[in-house]
Amino acid sequence: MLKKFLETATGAAQEAGRLQRERLWQEREIGFKGETDLVTDVDRDCEALIVAAIRQEWPGHDILAEENEYVPSGSGFRWVIDPLDGTTNYAHGFPWFCVSIALEIDGEVRLGVICHPMMDELFTAVRGEGAFLNGRRLQVSHRAPLKNCLLATGFPYDRTRDNENNFDNFVNFQMAARAVRRAGAAALDLAYVAAGRLDGFWECKLKPWDVAAGQLLVAEAGGRVTSHAGELYSIYNHRILASNGLIHDEMVGVLAETKDIQKPEPGTSILR
Ligand code: IPD
Ligand code: CA
Ligand code: CA
Repeated sequence: MLKKFLETATGAAQEAGRLQRERLWQEREIGFKGETDLVTDVDRDCEALIVAAIRQEWPGHDILAEENEYVPSGSGFRWVIDPLDGTTNYAHGFPWFCVSIALEIDGEVRLGVICHPMMDELFTAVRGEGAFLNGRRLQVSHRAPLKNCLLATGFPYDRTRDNENNFDNFVNFQMAARAVRRAGAAALDLAYVAAGRLDGFWECKLKPWDVAAGQLLVAEAGGRVTSHAGELYSIYNHRILASNGLIHDEMVGVLAETKDIQKPEPGTSILR
């Protein structure tokens, strides 16, 4: 059955990826969900396309996606979808964005797919069966210690209004690691940790659709995914730390030094 679910996810992700690629440099409708939180016509069209593809195959399943609310039916199957991760990049014509689709079964993420259309790369993972890039098995990097490592992160949309803005962590990691990148698509950052192209990633205030597929990719490629404190992680937590495992404790140590004011995690209840 998981194979069938994976086919649905890869088909929908690739179709949405094609649409993103075709329309990248066309005229764009841009809306604002917040001061810096954009949404484009392509985010909405991709979500509609993905949800239609899932509903056609699996009409009884629930959907948790970024751009719309879907009434839950209480089904044990929930698709967690970021139709376009990297919207700010997309809106500016900066070609770094992806589609992220995961499936939770009884509260556990069982499969994840990330399509990076500009690179023709399809990342897939099924829990217990490994992570793959265009069908080739992935493994996290073996790089350590932290000072030799390439990391990625991002900053929340409310960064000018809330002190938990990740700025202090960013400075601390710039000092402790080889370099830190901010490419603008959290799902791709996680896929790149899985592929060994990045050694670690951390961020705060992410949503389940940003991380659901990517965190499974990292775990299935042999990496480690926890909270910033190194504790058990759920996609409903807001603070994620993902790494090749070898530098994880060092990264937890750096995150513990933060001067950013951190509020307690809001818990694992569903966001909607
Ligand atoms: C955003 C991207 C970005 C991250 C933000 C996310 P969106 O998702 O993943 O890299 O820093 O926190 O919200 O809005 O482009 O889907
Ligand atoms: Ca996102
Ligand atoms: Ca998005």
